Amino acid sequence: MGFDSVSRRSFMKYLGAAGVAASTKAAAQGSDETPRDSAAQAATRAQRLAWWRDAKFGMFIHWGLYSVIGHQEWVLESEGIPIPQYEILAKHFKPKPNAAREWARLAKAAGQKYMVMTTKHHEGFCMWDTKQTDYCAMKQGPGRDLVREFVEAARAEGLRVGFYYSLMDWHHPDGMRCATDEAARKRFVDYTHGLIRELMTNYGKIDILWYDVDLPLTPEQWESERMNRMVFELQPEIVVNNRNGLEGDFSTPEQKIEASGSGRAWESCMTLNQGWGFQLHDDEWKSPRAIIDNLATCAQQGGNYLVNIGPEADGTVPAASVRILETVGRWLEVNGRAIYATDGGASISFGNYDNFTRKGNTLFVHVYFWPSGTPAAEWLEFYKPATVVAFGGLNAKVVSAKVLKTGEKIAFTQDEISVRLTGLPASAPDDPVTVLELECDRPPVVDHHSIRGKWPRYRVGISG
Ligand code: GLC
Repeated sequence: MGFDSVSRRSFMKYLGAAGVAASTKAAAQGSDETPRDSAAQAATRAQRLAWWRDAKFGMFIHWGLYSVIGHQEWVLESEGIPIPQYEILAKHFKPKPNAAREWARLAKAAGQKYMVMTTKHHEGFCMWDTKQTDYCAMKQGPGRDLVREFVEAARAEGLRVGFYYSLMDWHHPDGMRCATDEAARKRFVDYTHGLIRELMTNYGKIDILWYDVDLPLTPEQWESERMNRMVFELQPEIVVNNRNGLEGDFSTPEQKIEASGSGRAWESCMTLNQGWGFQLHDDEWKSPRAIIDNLATCAQQGGNYLVNIGPEADGTVPAASVRILETVGRWLEVNGRAIYATDGGASISFGNYDNFTRKGNTLFVHVYFWPSGTPAAEWLEFYKPATVVAFGGLNAKVVSAKVLKTGEKIAFTQDEISVRLTGLPASAPDDPVTVLELECDRPPVVDHHSIRGKWPRYRVGISG
């Protein structure tokens, strides 16, 4: 999927949603009210989410028995593999030592601030030392507690720790039967709550609980309210997502960027190629620029971006994933202040080659395709000198402008319709994206739709 197809397309969808302006504004103000939660959870939400909102960028890790096959994480169901066949994998799942250390170092190098690992995916295999089943890493091929290794690795790099946990379970005999058999439901809910209790008890402070797929039960049948109460009793500072059938603390748009309404926190999760779990021959990789664009789009709208790696069975991260994430990390090392802890709500429209984030009175203009040398400059004064970055509909007055990477000052002109940044080099000063940093006289918002009514669009002061 190309750079344009993911973010621009989903943004158009976002624009089509009702209440865009209101939700963007609320997101920027950080209001976190949602219905259906216990009062205690709602009362501490803004505080618990503070680090998470600033972090912006996390690493998702899909890793389990399916990684041995290399046909993604749904392979058990999508290929109809008999359970006794699939179980054989548990004996042959033999990760190398310190696999999680490599991921944590990669996450750190990529500029990611937190990591979320699959502790149990739909396949039902528990990646830790559980007392509740033998179908777990400790008692099978690995002979180790892979969750503990993950937690220690993340902490060693100063990263926050998140657990993904799938409620749906294709392996446990009650996993599907629980929908129609009350005794099975009771057993399976006990099992599920018990597993979550272990995860919330045995590994110190856990920062994120990332539930997934609540089929085949309703939240009432899962006893999800009680589940969350237990989680918060054990981990008072944790943030939880919305996939156990309750609202939780944040929403989880998948493979798309979609801001939540009413200032609710949200995190867009995405793969680097097509799949979550390791897929041997999937070479459909996103470019580093696409990842940066998506990250900026999330930040622009006040959300987070969780990007996935699907390690091989031994824990090795596909070389393409390493290359992409390291490139993004090098960019963030220079341009991080245009992303981390930004305010959200910088614009309610995109340019065709740029995007916007903001922090206080600072507007960051992210330029993806350096717009120099348009042939139209032969006739249009607007495009002189040779490189002009222009955008319409800024609500604020620009006080000064510079290239973030080099600190080089940028000359500019501004009237009530548009800002024109001039005096820029002929080729992009940074790669894959150049950020221009504009100090404004108030919190900036770019809305080029707003200029439609300003007619005639006569202007002064554009001569180059
Ligand atoms: C979906 C898939 C699952 C994946 C998840 C990530 O729910 O079923 O395989 O782990 O998305 O968001």
